[in-house]
Amino acid sequence: MNITDIISNSGKPDIYKKGSSFMWTDEHISKQLLNIHLNPDIDLASRKLSTIIKTANWILSTQKEKGKLNILDLGCGPGLYSEIFAKKGHNVTGIDISKTSIEYAKKSAFDKKLSITYHNANYLNIDLEADKYDLIVLIYTDLGVLIPKERDILLDLIYRVLKKGGTFVFDVLKDNELEKRISPKSWEAVSSGFWKASPYIALSESFLYEPQKVILFQHIIVDSDENIETYRFWTHFFSQNDVRKILEVHKFTDIKFREDVLPKGDMWSGDNVIFSLCSKN
Ligand SMILES: C[S@@+](CC[C@H](N)C(=O)[O-])C[C@H]1O[C@@H](n2cnc3c(N)ncnc32)[C@H](O)[C@@H]1O
Repeated sequence: MNITDIISNSGKPDIYKKGSSFMWTDEHISKQLLNIHLNPDIDLASRKLSTIIKTANWILSTQKEKGKLNILDLGCGPGLYSEIFAKKGHNVTGIDISKTSIEYAKKSAFDKKLSITYHNANYLNIDLEADKYDLIVLIYTDLGVLIPKERDILLDLIYRVLKKGGTFVFDVLKDNELEKRISPKSWEAVSSGFWKASPYIALSESFLYEPQKVILFQHIIVDSDENIETYRFWTHFFSQNDVRKILEVHKFTDIKFREDVLPKGDMWSGDNVIFSLCSKN
């Protein structure tokens, strides 16, 4: 095993240095993730089904216009929110980079006779019609895993495709007790698992970049052919004020926050997640 390569990949990198691999589009991992999304009782990849239903209904309740809305679900995964919106009669478009999730979402909508438009695409470089959507959602704290340059690209896109008076709803991780979010170093050696169908060793560690309120969750995967892959999740934490400043730079208005959307005492609740709504004038 090439220990020198492992050493050079592990440890604390410069902030925002990319890993070698991307989790959401890996064929094996995306299948594991789909099963996790679809488990109605767990709060990983997607939230618990009861929380999804509560959140989707709350999002719709924020809309003054009670007619048919054009809704854009960014990072829609297998379409759990999109389907709730479509069942209420709205025009829904879902975008996700995972082929596995979009294939599942398309089949599920077809089976349930729901008319939802799904695109398997990267929302950082998709071309969408300007001023089209009444409501845009980005759920499960996904804005916070983008590095600032990508976050700017996505917020520019959202602003461009939102109708005047439309609403953008999203959630972020709260910036309290960051030191407690760091996981201790850990490793596993398995014949198959989350990261690969074949044998691998996974070395996991996390690092705090305090001034930027960022934690890097890093996983180094070494397979039996000694290939090394590095997965890096640059996870941002925010105060309401941080979110407000970012949205104002991107010209959003009517910025509001809610910390009571998610159920108290759950893994994700108002203790660690802030929901934000904003508009375009
Ligand atoms: C944490 S999951 C949340 C899924 C869904 N919003 C939910 O809460 O059920 C993040 C989703 O964003 C998708 N995603 C990540 N980066 C993306 C990108 N650049 N473009 C489009 N989708 C992306 C992933 O494939 C994944 O389905």
